[in-house]
Amino acid sequence: MKVLVTGAGGQLGRMLCATVPAGVTLDARSSAQLDVSDLAEVSRVVAEARPGVIINAAAYTAVDRAEQEPEHAHAVNALGPAHLAQAATHCGARLLQVSTDYVFDGTSARPYRPLDACHPLGVYGASKRAGEEAVLASAAQGLILRTSWLYAAQGNNFVRTMLRLMAERDELGVVADQVGCPTWAGTLAQALWAAAQRPQLHGLYHWADLGVASWYDFAVAIQEEALALGMLDRAIPIRPLRTEDYPTPARRPAYSVLDSADARRDFAVAGMHWRVALRMMLKELA
Ligand SMILES: NC(=O)c1ccc[n+]([C@@H]2O[C@H](COP(=O)([O-])OP(=O)(O)OC[C@H]3O[C@@H](n4cnc5c(N)ncnc54)[C@H](OP(=O)(O)O)[C@@H]3O)[C@@H](O)[C@H]2O)c1
Repeated sequence: MKVLVTGAGGQLGRMLCATVPAGVTLDARSSAQLDVSDLAEVSRVVAEARPGVIINAAAYTAVDRAEQEPEHAHAVNALGPAHLAQAATHCGARLLQVSTDYVFDGTSARPYRPLDACHPLGVYGASKRAGEEAVLASAAQGLILRTSWLYAAQGNNFVRTMLRLMAERDELGVVADQVGCPTWAGTLAQALWAAAQRPQLHGLYHWADLGVASWYDFAVAIQEEALALGMLDRAIPIRPLRTEDYPTPARRPAYSVLDSADARRDFAVAGMHWRVALRMMLKELA
């Protein structure tokens, strides 16, 4: 099976490249090698490569900057999947599109299920939702997998930012009233490879590591685990903040816990608790 991975230089893209299963021939394209916002380029590359599966790991992920750059976010997150869906339809490839918990507004009283109504609060979430809609409206086979609070040993993410700040500062304040599911790129890649190998699967799915946390819980766990691994010299006080004490350009959902039960069943991947996954990522980083 030949699999084309877009956005191969990102957190998820790199992890997909590092975990290619036996029997898969990888065709990995970074943003410099394939710009998903360019329809002509996407059509040409996909027609030449003739993959059986396309995994779209390319995205504009700067949630706050997107508020100032809505056209750029839309080009990558909405037009990109639309172009890939069109090219996939032409060559008969399945498209696995990755999306986000930020398509939800956070008002749910229970974990979000794949068919729950979407109301994005910001430009990034709206652009990702437009990408989902383009894929769903197309004739392309495949599925959409939403994930949340993604991190990896490489790339820009909350875990690496916290480790840097914990080494530099004497104390830290972290938002405690936004709750979600931290998810390691390693477990997400495992889920995507399982989905790639199950051609009967289609529709919308959620994938997040098990358990629930606030950003504050997550930061406390990062410090504890990093201290245990000798990655930090000393513990600093971490204070819980309210969202209103830490204003950002983009609004974020207060509650974006994803219910991944369907994916765990249909992909036959058990998943792991976010804290176990965090430990694995930190060991890789150490
Ligand atoms: N990060 C999170 O917390 C999070 C949460 C929920 C869902 N997700 C979703 O998970 C997926 C993977 O995210 P990630 O964290 O791995 O993102 P990432 O680290 O920001 O990687 C995204 C990659 O896409 C590339 N890219 C940007 N514009 C492109 C274009 N026009 N054509 C081709 N490639 C382009 C980037 O390349 P350059 O660096 O060269 O621009 C980068 O390598 C995305 O669909 C994202 O929306 C992420």
